[in-house]
Amino acid sequence: MMAIRYELIPDEQMDTVKHLCNELMAYQKSLATIRPELFDGMSFETRMIPSVKNAKANQIIAAMDGDELVGYVYSNVSPKEVYSNDFAVFFDMDSVKGSDVGCLSQFYIKDGYRSMGIGTVLFEKSKRWLDSYDGIDDQFIYVSNGNDAALNFYISKGFKISHQILDGFITVLRNTKSDSK
Ligand SMILES: CC(C)(COP(=O)(O)OP(=O)(O)OC[C@H]1O[C@@H](n2cnc3c(N)ncnc32)[C@H](O)[C@@H]1OP(=O)(O)O)[C@@H](O)C(=O)NCCC(=O)NCCS
Repeated sequence: MMAIRYELIPDEQMDTVKHLCNELMAYQKSLATIRPELFDGMSFETRMIPSVKNAKANQIIAAMDGDELVGYVYSNVSPKEVYSNDFAVFFDMDSVKGSDVGCLSQFYIKDGYRSMGIGTVLFEKSKRWLDSYDGIDDQFIYVSNGNDAALNFYISKGFKISHQILDGFITVLRNTKSDSK
């Protein structure tokens, strides 16, 4: 019988999840059929470090099986402008009321630990943290093409498909607080 522990990882110790972050990038590339080469520049160094630095608040949660890291989720609250850059405009800036948005940014459970409920626990912890921010109306999740299991997982948790960007490379999921009230 496996007992999973959930631990908050301080931003300064984000290196803890580096290898799983890079596994996530490789996993997403392996599933993608639309522009998979866009993953080539994506790694812990180019995706996670800048994201943590540009955010107003971060939450990294690790799932531990004994001493082994078996999964993590990374969410943040950031100024909406960080989602309009040279790579893409992720959503219509004017459609967001406040100055900041929430994002469930990275989510990965190791093969062999999936479909056991660990993802649901991590998702709910992240969602609760994002919900606790007053004045943030919009939460986003960006799912790369080919990852229908993840897409369906988030839809089952209440997120809605908003639109696609980069020729369908990414599907943008959105949860707007005022919609659900
Ligand atoms: C997506 C992911 C985070 C979900 O976490 P998980 O621990 O596997 O999910 P859970 O065990 O909590 O499952 C929740 C529900 O999703 C469904 N589900 C989970 N993984 C699934 C899969 N691979 N295929 C189909 N359904 C799946 C389950 O049926 C479950 O529904 P149920 O509770 O009614 O049985 C995890 O599978 C994962 O890390 N996948 C690889 C990386 C990835 O795709 N990350 C997301 C990037 S956007």
